[in-house]
Amino acid sequence: MTARYDAINWNAVSDAVDKATWEKLTEQFWLDTRIPVSNDLDDWRTLDDKHQWLVGHVFGGLTLLDTLQSQDGLAALRKDVKTPHETAVLNNIQFMESVHAKSYSTIFSTLNTPDEITEIFDWSDTEEYLQNKAAWIYDLYRDASVDPLKKKVANVFLETCLFYSGFYTPLYYLGNNKLANVAEIIKLILRDESVHGTYIGYKFQIGFNQLGQNEQQAMQDWLFDFLYKLYDNEEKYTHLLYDDVGWTDEVLTFIRYNANKALMNLGQNALFPDTEADVNPIVMNGISTSTSNHDFFSQVGNGYRLGEVEAMNDADYHVSAPQEPKPDQQ
Ligand SMILES: [Fe+2]
Ligand SMILES: [Fe+2]
Repeated sequence: MTARYDAINWNAVSDAVDKATWEKLTEQFWLDTRIPVSNDLDDWRTLDDKHQWLVGHVFGGLTLLDTLQSQDGLAALRKDVKTPHETAVLNNIQFMESVHAKSYSTIFSTLNTPDEITEIFDWSDTEEYLQNKAAWIYDLYRDASVDPLKKKVANVFLETCLFYSGFYTPLYYLGNNKLANVAEIIKLILRDESVHGTYIGYKFQIGFNQLGQNEQQAMQDWLFDFLYKLYDNEEKYTHLLYDDVGWTDEVLTFIRYNANKALMNLGQNALFPDTEADVNPIVMNGISTSTSNHDFFSQVGNGYRLGEVEAMNDADYHVSAPQEPKPDQQ
């Protein structure tokens, strides 16, 4: 007899977080082609060469990371699902990663010349520190012998921390009332990444909580080592991108703040002393998705309203989760 193959039954959902996440993600579905980026051309022309270079290259870096997620990140996680609904959620996430990766090309095609676009992709395909982080994470994704929990850690570090060295630039401009449509795309991406990081972190915590004490300790040792290694590389990447415009220190603060959020998604204690209060308030204002999209920049928001959406918060996950994270983890 051949093996049984089961149909997915959404009327028998064993983990309510799967269903809540599916609903959240489908409710906030969007496409890059609906945002009028060309409205930002006047702002773009006011930027000097250094700042135009920065915008193009942070988006080059983000394209690479979203490519990695869409091509390998979610496929790697799908090998270790515990429920069929988790597979469906990961399928949704994978498609949206393709939308994210494509949306930077929409921005490039509006703001940059063909030669500039070629140079940006040559750069992102060869830049040492950018390639380092992609390679380290890809190595974990593709190796079948790697603990699936470590693949989730890598995923959350990418989603909730590594993107933010790039997100800083459009959020800075948003806070200064420039490049509003470009920033709109980035805020839609950021809103997705926030759900992705929370969901995958939650799935990590379920597995982590089932480990014995020694295994938990070993996992924590590994993940903090990996975060240090990524942060060390991220410092060099940030200097490379931001030294010319003088924003490096404040970008590094923002990265450390988001590294702590990644650890929080994984149910771990914060590593860095940086808090929200330390981050440039202009950028925090930009990141605040409570006013996202539909109020502040109404000329964009009114044209794009598929559903009423709001930022994800912890309360969204208080839906009879099978196991709460332990409060005393270190
Ligand atoms: Fe993404
Ligand atoms: Fe993502």
